Amino acid sequence: MAPALPRLLVTRRLPKEVEIRLAKTYRAELNADDQPMSEAEILDAAQDKDALLITPMDKSFATGIIAKLPASVKIVATFSVGYEHVDIAAARERDIAVTNTPDVLTNATADIALLLILGAARGAYWGERMVREDRWTSWSPTAPLGFDVSGKRLGILGMGRIGQAVAKRAQAFEMELHYHNRRPVAPDLAYGARYHAALDQMLPHSDFLSVNCASTPETRGLVNEKLIGKLPDGAIIVNSARGDIIDDDALIAGLTSGKLAAAGLDVFRNEPKIDPRYRTLDNVFLLPHLGSATRDTRIAMGMRAADNLDAFFAGRKPADLLT
Ligand code: DGY
Repeated sequence: MAPALPRLLVTRRLPKEVEIRLAKTYRAELNADDQPMSEAEILDAAQDKDALLITPMDKSFATGIIAKLPASVKIVATFSVGYEHVDIAAARERDIAVTNTPDVLTNATADIALLLILGAARGAYWGERMVREDRWTSWSPTAPLGFDVSGKRLGILGMGRIGQAVAKRAQAFEMELHYHNRRPVAPDLAYGARYHAALDQMLPHSDFLSVNCASTPETRGLVNEKLIGKLPDGAIIVNSARGDIIDDDALIAGLTSGKLAAAGLDVFRNEPKIDPRYRTLDNVFLLPHLGSATRDTRIAMGMRAADNLDAFFAGRKPADLLT
């Protein structure tokens, strides 16, 4: 008799192709109505499971749920590259494997970073609104005007896979590139960007600052009043990484005082309950965490999570093991 398939809980709806695969290879409990699950609901549903497939919205994995999971749960696969929502140390303590989905969303997320750069610089938000609200009265040589991107300096904060893909794209826009990272990257991955070992050194060279680092205890709140003060006047900040890297009070103060010309944000602290002040500002271009939100990329993320689960249950080391 074939061994019983592992039991899997999937906390959110996934692309159809991924659900079909999971339903074939696991005794999968899917979330057909896509309702986010509370900690209590996850714990209840996890009782008879061997594996959990979660998303960045399952924040309880950072705040204590791992210690309460039943002994049957041996692996937690997150459908995301970011894993700040999972307490990796707690998982190690319980001998629970944790995996993520790097690589497959690099291009889509870097595309969004460029969309934020262009959207913020060229006033995509107010331009779109003007057309929709029928307030576009005439083409004018002097108003409304945005900012050039070509020839401007871009500082990339975090030169991992996504930072490098941002550099590659920004090079095509003829931007002068700078980056800060814990370590320099190989020259062929820097796309001509100049390395700054100290973040403070890079800031005065950043007409645009693109946030591309992970959210960690060291980077939370990193983009604060002091950092913004070191940027050139009229700088533009874009964030496609995680909302909590930015201090909202400092960013909003910079945007309202004129120190910053604009911002482009795809991620927010406490999203989707964002700081309501952003909605009142004309110089911010706002997106609802669309970084990886293409059909192809979301399918690839699901397949990558499934590959990790398959490897684990076949007794192999998952390619994206974090524990
Ligand atoms: C991730 O994978 O961490 C992304 O933020 C999801 O879009």
